[in-house]
Amino acid sequence: YKRVTVKSLTEMKSRGEKISMLTAYDYTMAQIVDGAGIDVILVGDSASNVMAGHETTLPITLDQMIYHASSVVRAANRALVVVDLPFGSYQSDPKEALRSAIRIMKESGGHSIKLEGGKEVKESIKRILNAGIPVMGHLGLTPQSIYKFGTYTVRAKEEEEAQKLKEDALMLQKAGCFALVLEKVPAKLAQEVAESLTIPVIGIGAGAGVDGQVLVTHDMLGMTHEFNPRFLRRYLDMHTEMTSAFEKYSADVKSQDFPNEDEQY
Ligand code: KIV
Ligand code: NA
Repeated sequence: YKRVTVKSLTEMKSRGEKISMLTAYDYTMAQIVDGAGIDVILVGDSASNVMAGHETTLPITLDQMIYHASSVVRAANRALVVVDLPFGSYQSDPKEALRSAIRIMKESGGHSIKLEGGKEVKESIKRILNAGIPVMGHLGLTPQSIYKFGTYTVRAKEEEEAQKLKEDALMLQKAGCFALVLEKVPAKLAQEVAESLTIPVIGIGAGAGVDGQVLVTHDMLGMTHEFNPRFLRRYLDMHTEMTSAFEKYSADVKSQDFPNEDEQY
């Protein structure tokens, strides 16, 4: 396979090829995602919800992110691996941010990091980039600041917030980010941002006018069946499929149908 790089993503944007991105937190899932030809694998801090069952992304630690990322890296033969800097690992100061990013690169083998925010984290982004670590930005709905907003509703519907988002997006490009995620913002605004930038804009709940799409893999597989935002397209109903497999297995064990003559030594 030809490895996807931060450079190939920019080239994809300039030739109008959309970028596919999905999350993975473990080796087995990442192997399937990579093998299917997904361009970018995000080791998202959504692992805090999906893997650990926390209500928010705030509790996941840098050590835990490194564990997830190292498992994903061992499986990714083609995809570019992006690793989220978790809450608390970069907000204090740029030096702390760089230290955290270095730990991710050294200890997991990931290819780049992602962090949330605009001008608040500008100096941290610059310091990380100076060390040669590619940075992906993340604007719009930023789940690490959920307690500041209070809800997971659509962001930047008002002109003032939309204006700040546009300024932040331009700042991220100028600072040197190789791409950015726009989460849950109006499609028109997202398209405007994508058209004004040369770096790829990857959307989630941001409409079709951007340069690529990202979903949480467990959501698009229908494993997390209580999460039903409008932007989510389900490609499988894994919750139903898995439940019926587990029920069948349980029934087979109890009825002593499993294991049969051929399934033993
Ligand atoms: O953590 C995550 O899964 C993300 C995506 C939703 C962009 O940041
Ligand atoms: Na995230």
